[in-house]
Amino acid sequence: MRKAKILTTGMYVPDYVVTNELLSQAMDTSDEWITQRTGIKERRMVPDTYKMLQQLARAPDKEAYLRTLYESGLDGNINAEMTTADLALAATQVALKQANMKPQDLDLIIQTSVVPDYVFPGVACVLADKLGLTSTPTFSLNQGCAGFIYALSLADQYIKTGTYHTILVLGAEILSSIFQYSNRGRDMSVLFADGAGAAILVPAADDEPSGFLSHHLHTDGTLLSKLYGELFGTTTFPPFVKQKIDGDRILPHMEGRAVFAQAIRRFREVIQECLEANKVSIEEVDHFLFHQANVRILDSIADSLNIPTAKLPVNIHKYGNTSAASVPILLHETLQEGRIKRGDLCLLAAFGTGFNWGASLLRW
Ligand code: ACO
Repeated sequence: MRKAKILTTGMYVPDYVVTNELLSQAMDTSDEWITQRTGIKERRMVPDTYKMLQQLARAPDKEAYLRTLYESGLDGNINAEMTTADLALAATQVALKQANMKPQDLDLIIQTSVVPDYVFPGVACVLADKLGLTSTPTFSLNQGCAGFIYALSLADQYIKTGTYHTILVLGAEILSSIFQYSNRGRDMSVLFADGAGAAILVPAADDEPSGFLSHHLHTDGTLLSKLYGELFGTTTFPPFVKQKIDGDRILPHMEGRAVFAQAIRRFREVIQECLEANKVSIEEVDHFLFHQANVRILDSIADSLNIPTAKLPVNIHKYGNTSAASVPILLHETLQEGRIKRGDLCLLAAFGTGFNWGASLLRW
């Protein structure tokens, strides 16, 4: 059986930079609180959210502004300028260009997002339309922040069995569309942001050491009440008419401290499981590419497992938590910086809503 390897990667983040300063003008928060609690300094957001935040920052009565927004949309317009599939397309184009491929060269697409364009069909179908594909099979997964690891594991199995040769795996998110930039929603809205990351997987040659060595996936559904969202979609902005819905059910729900504690526990467990399965020590791994949820979560894992900071790339200060897009964006940037060399051992891991978590070990 031939292992799957990553041929190329791509990423896209919107041009609009939302600083902690802008968030502090829009609601009751501060650069100090966000930086100390999360390590985030700025994040990228789609044009609609950026425009809304500018208006909210200037609004003398912020509650009245938000009420009007949910009743009438942004300037009376509820059609979003950019959807999850647009971000997915932009990241895909970078990966395709690097591989010198066209969309028709892909045998399968596995996409993962928390917030889709539509309730149905999946974002992968919308992306297939944008790529002009009329019969290439696609999957849409929703495994929260762990989605990219789940998607990689699926792609690897299809390549190992010889079912498909060239597989696009991508995570894309417009998380800024579902949070409320108010005192009620501030615990979550300062964390999450928008972006997309992609990878093209192909079989490694028989004599090539490159490729995935193992994947380790887990779900604990009994704790879903600690982090969930009920209703949304990114084709409209805001995504639904507020009068129709119980206000408390509009906002995503998170028990931050419970999520924090679970994240640290599950990250550590799955990293150790992955290392033991491959009989590899922490010292032998060259790069730990972890989901960027909170710098304090990353620091705690690194401290307890003795992971040197030089082996732990971090970009949360620039992008916030981009959920399923976080690991592929980090992988793309780390590659672009020239930090990953042929033969390096990379451990990818993520944890998120569900709770879902997982890790993959990859020889570059
Ligand atoms: N600005 C200012 N104050 C705030 C903000 C904000 N944005 N948000 C909350 N607060 C206030 C709270 O109201 C609370 O006030 P109170 O003490 O008067 O009641 C106070 O800050 C302290 O809150 P804590 O719960 O002590 O804050 P904590 O140190 O736990 O940090 C945080 C909160 C950052 C959310 C943290 O718990 C965390 O990062 N948890 C993990 C979240 C996460 O990673 N989620 C994503 C998982 S991945 C996925 O799949 C989606």
